[in-house]
Amino acid sequence: MNSLFMDWFGLTVPILQAPIGGAATVELATAVGRAGALGSLALSWPEAQAGLRDATELKTRKIPFFTNFVLRFPNEALPLIIALGVPAVTFSWGVDEALVARVKASGAKVGVQVGSKAGAQTALKAGADFIIVQGMEAGGHVQSSTPLQKLLADVVAIAGAVPVIAAGGIADSQGVAAAMRQGAQGVMMGTRFLATVESDAHELYKQALVQATAGDTSLTNCFDVGWPYAMHRVLRNSTFEMWEAAGSPAAPNRPGEGDVVATSGPTQLLRYFDSSPPENATGDVLAACLYAGTGVDHINAVEPAGALVTRLWAETQKLL
Ligand SMILES: Cc1cc2nc3c(=O)[nH]c(=O)nc-3n(C[C@H](O)[C@H](O)[C@H](O)COP(=O)(O)O)c2cc1C
Repeated sequence: MNSLFMDWFGLTVPILQAPIGGAATVELATAVGRAGALGSLALSWPEAQAGLRDATELKTRKIPFFTNFVLRFPNEALPLIIALGVPAVTFSWGVDEALVARVKASGAKVGVQVGSKAGAQTALKAGADFIIVQGMEAGGHVQSSTPLQKLLADVVAIAGAVPVIAAGGIADSQGVAAAMRQGAQGVMMGTRFLATVESDAHELYKQALVQATAGDTSLTNCFDVGWPYAMHRVLRNSTFEMWEAAGSPAAPNRPGEGDVVATSGPTQLLRYFDSSPPENATGDVLAACLYAGTGVDHINAVEPAGALVTRLWAETQKLL
């Protein structure tokens, strides 16, 4: 069962590991790539040289991968990545036609993550090689206000030969199979890959994902320090419950505003900060922002990423 998308990157499994911020480590992308799927790095925030070093390491290891850039941020690593040459680059939170052309000229495939049919139309017009459709079930920052099933149908209908990848709330083989039956050439999972051995999420955060159900998530603007006015889906933790009970006030009038709930090296995780706790964080890590999609329903264990890819794809093939 091969597709254009799988052929581009030599994949044997049509699964993409989403760029899950700092939790997307070189080791995670390597494990995903070695299992035949497509890993990624989130390069909007790390220092440019660190991003370049990680991408260079994956190239040296001959791992297929993509690098992601959120267009809301300065993306200082992008020129270095274009000069390096990578298999693919994805953009989210916007489309920039000139940038798409510039990246394509470097030989990389360009994907654009969209949360609406209009966004897909703009991305197609800008020359995107593939479209990632993000449904509102997604964890992390959410561009969408439409359930995946509806938006995927709308975008598959207008995409023609351009491959469409489905994302948002998928964490088991039923979800993968459903998206592929609808015409997706692959699925991208973020929350599921947070709960893997190789992700850099804090151990208590991983365990919270295993314990949680979809009803424990909320689509909110609560954790907005560092990225205001952008909706995100998170676990309803102590900070969220306290803020909601106070009537969801705006900054700077939120309860505990400015509290340092945890630290990670020199970085202080403020209560309403938009960064989730990495593995080395100490303090009340479960009070920090805990991104999670509705797919937590189907996360029952922290698994090695390669074994997860192999298991999910074997189960999906039986369903298809
Ligand atoms: C912890 C976390 C960090 C994320 N960081 C990014 C990012 O840097 N860039 C981006 O385009 N999407 C990011 N996303 C969103 C993913 O691209 C994807 O849309 C989402 O994970 C899909 O939903 P799922 O988590 O339910 O699988 C992030 C998601 C999570 C859970």
